[in-house]
Amino acid sequence: MPDESPPNLRSYTRHQLALRNGQDRPEIWVAYKGLIYDVSDSRLWKNGRHYEHWAGQDLTTELADAPHTDNVFDKFKVIGRIVQNRY
Ligand code: HEM
Repeated sequence: MPDESPPNLRSYTRHQLALRNGQDRPEIWVAYKGLIYDVSDSRLWKNGRHYEHWAGQDLTTELADAPHTDNVFDKFKVIGRIVQNRY
């Protein structure tokens, strides 16, 4: 399991996360269980694509399709958390 979320994490909206989908900006981010991981350095997430999955969004439910567990996130840095939009 990923570590407990560190305190004082920056919050990002889903819109900000969506801009880090590997197409629009150099950063490639993936959210899992509310935390945002920076996978920019991964060869397996080049251009934001990982098999049939796309970065820039919360992929929590999609992990069920993967042949691996969430241990794959262990070596990546948590760079923020997702906030809900306030209307
Ligand atoms: C069809 C679905 C998927 C396939 C076939 C797949 C396959 C793989 C494979 C073969 C690896 C290499 C190492 C390993 O097995 O530990 C990997 C790594 C990884 N996967 Fe997936 N995966 C899938 C879905 C997902 C999803 C939905 C997520 C996010 C929730 C995800 C996140 C990751 C991450 C973060 C890594 C580590 C990348 C690295 O070490 O550079 N995968 N995946």
